[in-house]
Amino acid sequence: MSERKKVTLPALFKKVAEGKPITWLTCYDYPTAYFQERAGIDMILVGDSLGMTMLGYDSTLPVTMSDMIRHTQAVRRGSPNAFLVGDMPYMSYQPSSETAVINAGRFMAEAACDGIKLEGGAEMADRIAAIVAAGIPAIGHLGLTPQSASALGGFRLQGKGALQAKKIIDDAKALEEAGAFAILLELVPDRVCQIITERAEHCIIMSLGSGPHAHGQLLIYHDLFGLYPKFTPRMAKVYGNAGELIQNGLEQYVAEVQNKEFPQPKNYFGMKDEAYDELIQMLD
Ligand code: KIV
Repeated sequence: MSERKKVTLPALFKKVAEGKPITWLTCYDYPTAYFQERAGIDMILVGDSLGMTMLGYDSTLPVTMSDMIRHTQAVRRGSPNAFLVGDMPYMSYQPSSETAVINAGRFMAEAACDGIKLEGGAEMADRIAAIVAAGIPAIGHLGLTPQSASALGGFRLQGKGALQAKKIIDDAKALEEAGAFAILLELVPDRVCQIITERAEHCIIMSLGSGPHAHGQLLIYHDLFGLYPKFTPRMAKVYGNAGELIQNGLEQYVAEVQNKEFPQPKNYFGMKDEAYDELIQMLD
């Protein structure tokens, strides 16, 4: 495990002040968290996208708090030092500020998170304010917000028109004023992201498919390595095809067992003749 220092909120703001981009990835399990920790990732998001990437649902809506807590605990075990963000799943914060604080608190108390993220604009500002008042760092999420995909007309670019872009800009200000320390902009035009970043006074703006002008970048881990079989979004960059590697390895394993090429002597353990003879005598 790397010896690096724990990534804290002041450390993130220091990076912003120094003009150093913040790195952020999703992660859902222990071994991946271990690798991300060693790669020096600043922030990890245990996204409710795990409903799709890990649990095989068609959307994030069926994901529960129990799902989130279980995966977040595993990620924390693999990455003790990244700034760990728990993603509030569907209906864990929408009903009321009280529900939001209780569930945000679970991420902190049960999974050792450093903060939480929730989706929505000005209409969720009171949830952000309540969570921040409870001493929990909170991140807003604007643009394409997957929990509202149905209302948004699907998984598509948000804020293409001036009116919709203005609403996203106003929402970002409302979340910042409510106390969000960061805002994720997912799939909004780069120039809208630039305006929000330039206007942010005490808020870190992160981009997912929203261009280079933000203070940092987030991608979905599975998209980096071809690990989500259904699709890879255009905005993702594929850094290696682990999916193909795994598929080829699995097919080779199946063939080798069928052809009796596996196992070889180095893949199993023998027994001393003396013990074996004794065993046979016992059986006789
Ligand atoms: O759940 C998730 O991974 C997310 C990203 C899409 C930003 O919220």
